[in-house]
Amino acid sequence: MTVCVLHVAAEMYPLLKTGGLADVVGALPPAQSQLGSDARVILPGFPAVLAGLTGIEPVAVLGHAFGAGEVRLERGLLEPHGVVVYVVRADSFYDRPGNPYLDASHHPYGDNDRRFALLAWAAARVATGADPDWHPHILHAHDWHAGLAPAYLRAFERSSGTPRIPSVMTVHNLAYQGVFPAEQFGVLQLPPDFLAVDGVEFYGHLSFLKAGLYFAERITTVSPTYAREIQTQQHGAGLHGLLQTRSHDISGILNGVDYSIWNPSTDTTIDTRYTPAKPTGKLKCKAALQERLGLERNDDALLFGVVSRLTEQKGLDLLLSAIPDIVQRGGQLAVLGTGDLALENGMKNAAAAHPGAVAVELGFDETLSHSIIAGCDIVMVPSRFEPCGLTQLYALAYGSLPLVHRVGGLADTVVDSSLENLADDLATGFVFDAFERPGIVAAIRRAFALKARRTEWKTVMRRAMTKNFGWEAAAQDYAEIYRGLRPSDQP
Ligand code: ADP
Ligand code: GLC
Repeated sequence: MTVCVLHVAAEMYPLLKTGGLADVVGALPPAQSQLGSDARVILPGFPAVLAGLTGIEPVAVLGHAFGAGEVRLERGLLEPHGVVVYVVRADSFYDRPGNPYLDASHHPYGDNDRRFALLAWAAARVATGADPDWHPHILHAHDWHAGLAPAYLRAFERSSGTPRIPSVMTVHNLAYQGVFPAEQFGVLQLPPDFLAVDGVEFYGHLSFLKAGLYFAERITTVSPTYAREIQTQQHGAGLHGLLQTRSHDISGILNGVDYSIWNPSTDTTIDTRYTPAKPTGKLKCKAALQERLGLERNDDALLFGVVSRLTEQKGLDLLLSAIPDIVQRGGQLAVLGTGDLALENGMKNAAAAHPGAVAVELGFDETLSHSIIAGCDIVMVPSRFEPCGLTQLYALAYGSLPLVHRVGGLADTVVDSSLENLADDLATGFVFDAFERPGIVAAIRRAFALKARRTEWKTVMRRAMTKNFGWEAAAQDYAEIYRGLRPSDQP
């Protein structure tokens, strides 16, 4: 029988995106539908979400909740895959310009607890029959924004006596937990006994993510290595105790690449298309990028690229310390990013100190992100921690060798160009171990050394481009987890 899955999330490409979560929520449901599921998504009614859907129609009036006024449920279609998207309409909560989480001065909105409690509550309502035409078998919550959904399923089961559907909580990033003052518990409309260690309480506060990790039947995260890391004190962000007790319910499923969007042979946003067999167009992409960013036009300059949120996680302070090592060797650096002021300033200063060799664009620019991934020789992802990481996967597809720190999904997807790995035909990029300047500098030196051996560079580049990180494998793994939750589906 067709398995019906409701994904609960705050963003979805191409409607609204601040990071990789959107890419995943945009790509996983169509991949699941390809395998025969009916995968739908529920999102807050942000202006960009409403603008990007077609055929929006009313489904139900959900009533007054969380002080948002009258909440309505609507349903539309997202082309080109035809994914059905439910929208929570509460304009006083969601009809705000710009970033979905932050106000104009980059501070979290003061009512984010109620805004995302509403998303989770509305999802649980869909799971309990709010759309008379569609009844999901599984609720799949993504990150803290959806973390309360499994808690509402339990609460509704208790009040109605009707068995709940099972839920899966996917952690895309344990660093963002949705922590709010415990005094806010009253507004969540949950049973009083849920404010407990066995519930939503977290060191005297409320944690939306913890609620999901406690109440969901299964927990997944976005790479096998990160699944292990989050169960350690070092990477567990205060949740490792709970995660250790749920160890048997945790799986690490690597994200995929949507090759209908990230494919150098079909990408209409890049200067020239190219393939592993005929990669000459890549050089034209490099020339176009150098031109566009005001870098010196030079085919031979080893061009390093970054497309990233500028936050502590991404380790770009380490890259800043290594810029002289790139420039002194005749290399160049192109950065596209937005985020913390200190990192933005650090990047701007580096560009000013090395005109023609370092170029920095501050902002979020989807088209330029493709141009950088295509035009660079190397894409750098020196993250302190990285649950999965998508830019290194996009880089592989475009033959831009990733240079990464050996953590999380980066460790699972990039193979260092050590002599052994080159000899064994395994190398796809550059990986450093210790998060310290000597580590990244040594990796940068390996990149220059490999570039000097043109034939070997081309071999590694072709290998990178032909790796398959399509979504099908992940969709199969999620299907397996859903089957485990619905024993009646066993063949
Ligand atoms: P994270 O989700 O932690 O930010 P990922 O590597 O999983 O990291 O995903 C980041 C996504 O956001 C990628 O699709 C990347 O291309 C995109 N991205 C990040 N910063 C920018 C930016 N400044 N402009 C355009 N796209 C960006
Ligand atoms: C998070 C992580 C990133 C991951 C993305 C999608 O934002 O930081 O590593 O790739 O989610 O799962």
